[in-house]
Amino acid sequence: MERTIIKDALKRTDFGEKINVKGWVRTRRGNKNVSFIALNDGSTIHNIQVVVDFNNFSEEELKTITTGAAISVSGVLAESVGQGQNVEIQATEIEIYGTADPEKYPLQKKGHTLEYLREIAHLRPRTNTFGAVFRIRHNMAMAIHTFFHERGFFYFHTPIITGSDCEGAGQMFQVTTQNLCNLKTDENGAIDFSHDFFGAPTALTVSGQLEGELGAMALGAIYTFGPTFRAENSNTPRHLAEFWMIEPEVAFIEIAENMQLAQDFVQFCVNWALENCKDDIDFLAKMYDNELIERLKFVVENDFVRLTYTEGIEILKNAIAKGKKFEFPVDWGADLQSEHERYLVEEHFKKPVILTDYPKEIKSFYMKQNDDGKTVRAMDVLFPKIGEIIGGSQREEDLEKLTRRAKEMNIPEKDIWWYLDTRRFGTAPHAGFGLGFERLMLFVTGMQNIRDVIPFPRTPKNAEF
Ligand code: 4AD
Ligand code: MG
Repeated sequence: MERTIIKDALKRTDFGEKINVKGWVRTRRGNKNVSFIALNDGSTIHNIQVVVDFNNFSEEELKTITTGAAISVSGVLAESVGQGQNVEIQATEIEIYGTADPEKYPLQKKGHTLEYLREIAHLRPRTNTFGAVFRIRHNMAMAIHTFFHERGFFYFHTPIITGSDCEGAGQMFQVTTQNLCNLKTDENGAIDFSHDFFGAPTALTVSGQLEGELGAMALGAIYTFGPTFRAENSNTPRHLAEFWMIEPEVAFIEIAENMQLAQDFVQFCVNWALENCKDDIDFLAKMYDNELIERLKFVVENDFVRLTYTEGIEILKNAIAKGKKFEFPVDWGADLQSEHERYLVEEHFKKPVILTDYPKEIKSFYMKQNDDGKTVRAMDVLFPKIGEIIGGSQREEDLEKLTRRAKEMNIPEKDIWWYLDTRRFGTAPHAGFGLGFERLMLFVTGMQNIRDVIPFPRTPKNAEF
């Protein structure tokens, strides 16, 4: 008999028909006459109830059907009289694919802490929470591709192995095939990369932007969506060493349109979650965060506030004058800390905020310089609970200014000659931004720790699984 996915089985009303489902046992309970198996196959947060009548099965046969076992159930679809479900299956035949010894299987039915589940990341997708999170993650990826595809953007694949440090922060993981115990060096003792696989120093990318710009300056509007790596030693609930980033880049737009694109994009994704992930979001809201749905709707329905970094600093200084305490000082020129960003978003405006025109010293070399000589046309989108969810800018299209800034920031021209070529040949205004996929996931799921929204998190001292 053909297998029915449990998500579809739960919608059927052709009671009396034969049906087959397969899945993993969540729980089994019952009495002397009958046993109830809650079965889940990952297609939905909901289990289907399997009713096993002891007139048809012996207790002996059922003994190994415990939490975690994989089984195939054939039976008759029936209307359920029990609470919380409309259909159930009256089993006529059960095949056991794999048992899960109750003495050893780590996921017993009682609630486990998220910390414990991180230690068994190979099994945690089988829990309700992580099933919900990873189904939402898939849906967010579909939302992202849909958004850009519908607007005529092309999905452009930028390299994962690269020689350039886009953000200039020196937080790259090196890539080499050299024997680290026996490195070839030149006469000055420096490592001789001519023997290495690529004949040059290479690393895992921190951003696809530079190559993305090459795409935008030919195809008009592109986006990247790929793994991104940062060897920053920050053990926070918002940083991963390996995360996914979405980077749209558009020719012939300036910062105002870039801000609107960012707002439209995030609102589209959040709305997609509300429309397509209702059961999973309802579950997460119930379990972890009862303001989640309200917060998601609020972001979809309200414009983001736009203000400059300088105005933001003034607001923060006024707050301090009125008695607000921050751990870190607020000074024009310094980067904002998460506590400052969250004050602006959660307490002052009570709305997502797009902050623009940051001091050039704290931003990357490629950002368009303003006429004041002090600030650049950067934009960070700040979100409640998350802080920075998007970082982007209008790009410096003037070859002269860009080359000068790269030099000031010690970026060798020989490393970015190909990037500078876009400014040499047919340069034009353009802009783009990067959305951290897991930051979006944090927002949409209401989870508190970024390790809980990616299947296998990589963080300092942790690359298991
Ligand atoms: O602000 P960032 O560093 O900007 C860039 O990389 C630009 N090249 C983007 C562009 O203009 N095309 O990173 C962009 C976003 C951040 O706002 C944040 O959401 C996310 O990437 N991000 C991280 N997410 C998880 N873990 C980390 N370590 C992250 N670092 C950045
Ligand atoms: Mg940033």
